[in-house]
Amino acid sequence: MKRPFCAANWKMHKGPADAAAFGMKFASLYAPQADRTVVVFPTALSLAALREALADRADIGIGVQDVHEEAGGAHTGSLSAGMAAQAGAGWVLAGHSERRHEFGDTNEQVAEKVNRVLEAGLRPMLCVGEKLEDRESGHLEAVVRRQLEAVLTTLGPSDAGDLTYAYEPVWAIGTGRTASPEDAAEAHAILRSVLAETVGAVAAAEATVLYGGSVKPSNIGELLSAEGVDGGLVGGASLDPVSFAAICSAGSEDT
Ligand code: PGA
Repeated sequence: MKRPFCAANWKMHKGPADAAAFGMKFASLYAPQADRTVVVFPTALSLAALREALADRADIGIGVQDVHEEAGGAHTGSLSAGMAAQAGAGWVLAGHSERRHEFGDTNEQVAEKVNRVLEAGLRPMLCVGEKLEDRESGHLEAVVRRQLEAVLTTLGPSDAGDLTYAYEPVWAIGTGRTASPEDAAEAHAILRSVLAETVGAVAAAEATVLYGGSVKPSNIGELLSAEGVDGGLVGGASLDPVSFAAICSAGSEDT
C-alpha cells in the first residue's frame, strides 16, 4: 500500500485572512500522519499567510497553482517558478485543465513550465485529463498520451522521477460527477503504460498518480481502493477544513 497523497487546489478562493483561518483550523483537525502526504495549493497571494499559520507543520506542503513558462521578464500579472521558490513554495501545479481550457495553456507551454519548476528546485504536479467528447469518441488514451509525452520527452531521465501526476477528467471537475473507481483505474493504467514507455517500467510503477474531479469525504475511500490511484487532488471539497481533514484522514487507523 502506497502513502496516500491528498492535495488541495483552492483555485481563485481564499485571500490571506481566509487562508490563515483555514490553516489554523485544519492543523487542529488533522494531526501529522507519517503514512501520508498532504499539500495545499492556495492562490499565490495567500501563500505567506498559509505558511505562517502552518509554521510548525512541516508535514504539510504548500505550492502554487501555476507559473509562467519563462524564468522572468515583462509578463504583467505572472509569477515565475523562482519567485515561488523564494516565497517558500515546495510544489507547483502544471497543466491544470482550467489553465489549459480557460487560459489556453498548450502542451508545449506546460512542458516549459515543468522545466522551469524543476530548474527552480520545486516539485511539479502535472495534471492531465480528457474532455467528455474525447472520452465518448474513444480518444481518452490519445489525449492523455499527448499531454504526457509533450512534457516527458523534454525531460532528462532523472527529472521524470521528480514529477507527481494527477489524472483529472475534465467532465468530473467541479461538476459533482466523479469518475467511478473502475473509470479511474482504467485511466490510471493508461497513464502508467505511457509512463512505462517514456520513462521506464520502474519509474512508472513508482510514480505517484492522484485522481482529481469531485473528490469528497464520501468517495475518497473507494477511489483510493482503485488500482493505481495513490490519492486525490481536491478542489471544492478542500475549501472546508473539516471536509479536507476527513479526506486527508481516509483509510487512516485514527478514523
Ligand atoms: P473539484 O476540482 O474537486 O472541485 O472537482 C478538482 C480540481 O480541479 O483539481
